[in-house]
Amino acid sequence: MSFPLYAPAEEHDMLREAVRALADEKIAPRAAEIDETGEFSWDVYKALVASDLHAVHVPEQYGGAGADALATVIVIEEVARACASSSLIPAVNKLGTVPLLLSASQDLKMRYLRPVARGDAMFSYALSEPEAGSDAAAMKTRAVADGDVYVLNGTKMWITNAGVSEYYTVMAVTDPSAGARGISAFVVEKSDEGVSFGPKERKLGIKGSPTRQVIFDNVRIPADRMIGEPGTGFKTALATLDHTRITIAAQALGIAQGALDYAIGYVKERRQFGRPVADFQGVQFMIADMGMKLEAARQLTYHAAAKSERAMNGEPQPDLTYLSSAAKCAASDAAMEITTDAVQLLGGYGYTSDFPVERMMRDAKITQIYEGTNQIQRMVMARQLLK
Ligand code: CAA
Repeated sequence: MSFPLYAPAEEHDMLREAVRALADEKIAPRAAEIDETGEFSWDVYKALVASDLHAVHVPEQYGGAGADALATVIVIEEVARACASSSLIPAVNKLGTVPLLLSASQDLKMRYLRPVARGDAMFSYALSEPEAGSDAAAMKTRAVADGDVYVLNGTKMWITNAGVSEYYTVMAVTDPSAGARGISAFVVEKSDEGVSFGPKERKLGIKGSPTRQVIFDNVRIPADRMIGEPGTGFKTALATLDHTRITIAAQALGIAQGALDYAIGYVKERRQFGRPVADFQGVQFMIADMGMKLEAARQLTYHAAAKSERAMNGEPQPDLTYLSSAAKCAASDAAMEITTDAVQLLGGYGYTSDFPVERMMRDAKITQIYEGTNQIQRMVMARQLLK
């Protein structure tokens, strides 16, 4: 086990204040409508781009803001506090591009990170398939070499921001005899001939972020769009998740904070039996537990973020895999409990869409599922502890 590593700097506090102000003004007022219509919020995207908050993690050498992993967590957390769907803009931009940051040639990084940093393109990550979810290495999508191109065929599923993203990191089998070591990663563009998208999934939450299949029908990709060496794609995919499960934890923290803040305001106003319901010890204990679970998950997430930052800067962190799974699992389980309790504290009102907490409860659920179910996280943690 390791001692806490991070010490938020004054810049982190200032960043949080700035993002919260933007989120309160431009994102929170749109959240219910985004959920209701299920449309991608281009206005929120533009507002994030205008403040350089849409892909904060991209290093300065590629034209990005160069935010460290903790700053990126804070941005995602504060956007998610207002609107979970919108928080997937900075989170998925990170997920799509970390494979490049970890493994791509300098040329590929220059070509694809700069448009993301400018806000001209978003970047999604395509690992899962209809028959390869938790067992990601069982993927069937094929990439067959043909001279200096690879020809891609197959279907990716559950791809967040599919259709609105211009670029995709796609994992595909280049050597079917080699198992996980026969998988390679590629950059695919939305405009590549033969790329198409399935209908939008009809989901419980994060409705303002499109989730669709990405279908490849004889898509010809120049060989120089391979990320890293042939056969390293699965490792790159899992190494990416070591960094980005922390951003899902951040999203969960933000959703939970939004629900807790709303519930605290409500119980102080709502009067029953002649006094605010906040006066009742049963309510106070619920609020105390919610705050406690949230803060515990936050400290774990920030600690994991500090590890991620060190690893990104070339200092190997043997416990990063464990800590990123632990942070994602703890924060998402906490978010589910906290948002469910927030609905409970609002009683019948909490169960209606006139109040935001039922949306937060629905949005929280996905954080226990994507970037690896919490059962997979527990498996990853146990493997690390027992190895
Ligand atoms: N970093 C780098 N390499 C790693 C690694 C890590 N964290 N973990 C494992 N590897 C390597 C292993 O060393 C091994 O390589 P070698 O054979 O060369 O040693 C290779 O990867 C395969 O490892 P395993 O045998 O452990 O792999 P496995 O098939 O048992 O699967 C798993 C491991 C943990 C179950 C993995 O499949 C997994 O995480 N599954 C969940 C999938 C997932 O998270 N999907 C999320 C989709 S993205 C998403 O949801 C995003 C979104 O929409 C927002």
